[in-house]
Amino acid sequence: MSFRMSGVMGWPVGHSRSPALHGHWLARHGIAGTYVPLPVQPEHLEQALRALPVLGFAGCNLTVPHKEAAFRIVDHVDRAAARLRAVNTVIVRPDGTLEGRNTDGEGFLKHLEASAPAWRPDRPVLVLGAGGAARAVVGTLADAGVPEIRIANRTDARAASLAEEFGTPLRPWPWAKREDGLTGCGLVVNTTQLGMVGWPELELALDRLPGDGVVYDIVYTPLETPLLAEARQRGLTTVDGLGMLLHQARAGFAAWFGVDPTVDEALRQAVLGSTP
Ligand code: ATR
Repeated sequence: MSFRMSGVMGWPVGHSRSPALHGHWLARHGIAGTYVPLPVQPEHLEQALRALPVLGFAGCNLTVPHKEAAFRIVDHVDRAAARLRAVNTVIVRPDGTLEGRNTDGEGFLKHLEASAPAWRPDRPVLVLGAGGAARAVVGTLADAGVPEIRIANRTDARAASLAEEFGTPLRPWPWAKREDGLTGCGLVVNTTQLGMVGWPELELALDRLPGDGVVYDIVYTPLETPLLAEARQRGLTTVDGLGMLLHQARAGFAAWFGVDPTVDEALRQAVLGSTP
């Protein structure tokens, strides 16, 4: 195969861990290719995306603030991207058109299955937050067959409109009563920034979560948030946010470079050790 190129478009993009992630896989598989940070100002996004086939790029990832704008620019979208109205992975088709995908939800689920193999989608789930990350999470959980997804968000109205948009099995849950929402759940997911370095903690006593419940925090700075530390001390199964980032990258890498890579400890260490 000829030399292949991909990268990540963001503004700014210096914080992105994706070059370290894909660089590790490229080296491990001995692929003749590169994956580069692409700083692109929002007003130049369309030109930059249209330049991909011209420059010989196989595609790219998109990060903040480009995911929603890219959705409106690309020529084709998959179901996940259409549902989220956001694209995180672009693949240049042989005819030079751009295919937009969203792999965040699949990254979320693959990491859950790998980290909590006993988890089954047969009990309610409590999801905290109603932003872009929550949309990816609830769509995937609904597809997986979860019978009831309780959405609790600081701004209750946003939870209500998300539940209305997605319909069954979503159910808005009052933020003030979020701890009651743990009753009977097999899983609770934090999709807010609470618990991230520089942010307040998420206040959530876990007493009502069943003993075999899983606690998933999509925040990964720090890797063990106060919520996950509390869950671990209680003997609950915990799932951190880094694996979601690693797993969402697989589909793009496979499409651009022709190898389906694995997510393992060496990759985690390579990404954690990179200075973003
Ligand atoms: P993302 O796309 O990364 O999910 P977002 O759309 O900005 O980001 O969503 C951030 C989420 O974190 C929202 O659910 C937000 O709640 P609001 O809808 O009420 O804004 C939640 N969030 C942010 N700061 C919060 C805080 N201090 N307390 C509770 N929730 C907070």
